[in-house]
Amino acid sequence: MAQETLTITDNRTQQTYTLPIDKGTVRAMDLRQIKTSPEDFGLMTYDPAFMNTASCRSNITFIDGDRGILRYRGYPIEVLAEQCTFLEVAYLILFGDLPNEVELKTWVKEITHHTMLHESTKKFMEHFRYDAHPMAMLVSTVAALSTIYPEARDIHDPDNRLLQIKRLIGKMPSIAAMSYRHSLGFPYVYPDNDLNYSENFMNMLWKMVEPKYVANSVLARALDILFILHADHEQNCSANVMRSVGSAQADPYLTTAAAAGALSGPLHGGANEEVLKMLDEIGSKENVPAYIKRTKEGHGKLMGFGHRIYKNYDPRATIIKWTAEQVFKVTGRNPKLDIALELERIALEDDYFIKRKLYPNVDFYSGIIYQAMGFKPEMFTVLFAIPRTVGWLAQWQEMLADTDQKIARPRQIYTGHEVREFLPMGKRAPVAATAG
Ligand code: CMC
Repeated sequence: MAQETLTITDNRTQQTYTLPIDKGTVRAMDLRQIKTSPEDFGLMTYDPAFMNTASCRSNITFIDGDRGILRYRGYPIEVLAEQCTFLEVAYLILFGDLPNEVELKTWVKEITHHTMLHESTKKFMEHFRYDAHPMAMLVSTVAALSTIYPEARDIHDPDNRLLQIKRLIGKMPSIAAMSYRHSLGFPYVYPDNDLNYSENFMNMLWKMVEPKYVANSVLARALDILFILHADHEQNCSANVMRSVGSAQADPYLTTAAAAGALSGPLHGGANEEVLKMLDEIGSKENVPAYIKRTKEGHGKLMGFGHRIYKNYDPRATIIKWTAEQVFKVTGRNPKLDIALELERIALEDDYFIKRKLYPNVDFYSGIIYQAMGFKPEMFTVLFAIPRTVGWLAQWQEMLADTDQKIARPRQIYTGHEVREFLPMGKRAPVAATAG
């Protein structure tokens, strides 16, 4: 059998080193012994954007980007989306196994128990500007929960951590719904504990004067499926933020707010909002070829296309397309779907996209469904943040339990000045204060 080692010759010194290989990986710290002299710091790796660096060991989510495979705790996403509820999947992601009937019942009851917001959280949200972006409201309010639950700072107590996890999963839809209603100038709707997770979210979003909100079961199930699809995605940008901020032992509210901040970016969860803007800009099917031509000439990207890991069809996009059909039977077809399908058809036949392995990702179709359901594009990333909270919290727990982990603190290659002589005010040349 071949040896699981790597032999390196340093051509600066002619010295040879043998490093162990474990699961196709060498440890960056093993390179530190490679030095030109005893004073030398030792060899580092340079990997901006973590293109080829594993930052942790994880047993939560498996992705094979070349084959378009996504599994949570070993279960294919297609099976979970078809067979489970979102809270069932949340249990699986957080605790490693699917719950039995009793465990699920208790879990659902506990999460439902925590859906209520403290009145001061509600008042806090009422003071956002009338046109504040819902995602900015969500990020700020999740951070503000830290002021309501100061005991969350004790992250070393597992029971305390679990309580905050339940609170976060329970309150996320309430905060999301409140941000939505605030942006419309509608009053806050309190949770209804008779309803399931998605139905209750719909109740808090859309209940008006009726005494009891009755959710459309097809739309509620579609929302639940979308939540399942978005629940975790291993070491994506926001999960990495969750682990990084969490490694400093900040409390879970501030840590989750930081992760949600990362999610809001247009290259990450914010892409779903951008897809709708792009489809609006394209306007009709006939304009698709010209838009693709512009993209290929370097004027912007096709939002909702491409992925760092998937170099094949994103399996979540396939399920979303199916879910869209079910939703449109209730809401009527979103006319944007035709533009999206045409965009996908032409892009998938085009050499530029084929060569770069650019396929539709999860954000390409989700916005079209959300819009058909009645959400404004500004809400789309908020809808992503609700289920992803489960993934962030599972990644956070795993990181805290991992004895290999310490405070995340990358190295740098310093490219600035050597030590300089200090110049008094009168001797300094003008320097333009530009952002670029
Ligand atoms: N449209 C046109 N060209 C693209 C696109 C796109 N959407 N995405 C990548 N490319 C090109 C890119 O210009 C580059 O070309 P070249 O080799 O000629 O320089 C090549 O493909 C490789 O792209 P990259 O930017 O090096 O890839 P990355 O892994 O750094 O970025 C990505 C991944 C998702 C940020 C990127 O594909 C992108 O910006 N997509 C649009 C935004 C989007 O849909 N984001 C959602 C991602 S999935 C859900 C989530 O993470 O939340």
